[in-house]
Amino acid sequence: MRILMVCLGNICRSPTAEAALREAADEAGIDIEVDSAGTGAWHVGNPPDERMTAAAREVGLTLDGAARQVTPEDLDDYDLVLAMDLENLRDLRSIAPTGLPDDRIRLFRSFDPEGPDEDVPDPYYGGPRGFSDVVTMARRTAGELVRRIDAGEL
Ligand code: 4NP
Repeated sequence: MRILMVCLGNICRSPTAEAALREAADEAGIDIEVDSAGTGAWHVGNPPDERMTAAAREVGLTLDGAARQVTPEDLDDYDLVLAMDLENLRDLRSIAPTGLPDDRIRLFRSFDPEGPDEDVPDPYYGGPRGFSDVVTMARRTAGELVRRIDAGEL
């Protein structure tokens, strides 16, 4: 199973979702290949945002990697492409190759047992609370995602 997390900049939300899914998959002992990318190109090559990295570290999650921009080929290559918000979802659908199955690209929080189909709010211009909220949502949603994969539902 290959899963790609996507947000706008690939420096806050999607690297956190990536690390949270890797953690949950490791704990469950299931093999998932996970990466992340951004719809925008502003931060390409940059490491994750320091504020996001600090919030993730508080719960033992390590963010790493360098930002990259999502490509149409990614949408073919990954089994699931999970958008952090509705704008990301719309942007991904606009570059999707024709014939791509509708359920290939979904909202990440369509798997959140506590807030299904909501956005992961962009924390970039807000205060510290926004970053810790991203961590909480990412871990909760990643846990449910792994449970569904483990149960053979995805
Ligand atoms: P992300 O957060 O999409 O969660 O990585 C953002 C990072 C950078 C910007 C916006 C959102 N920006 O406008 O530069």
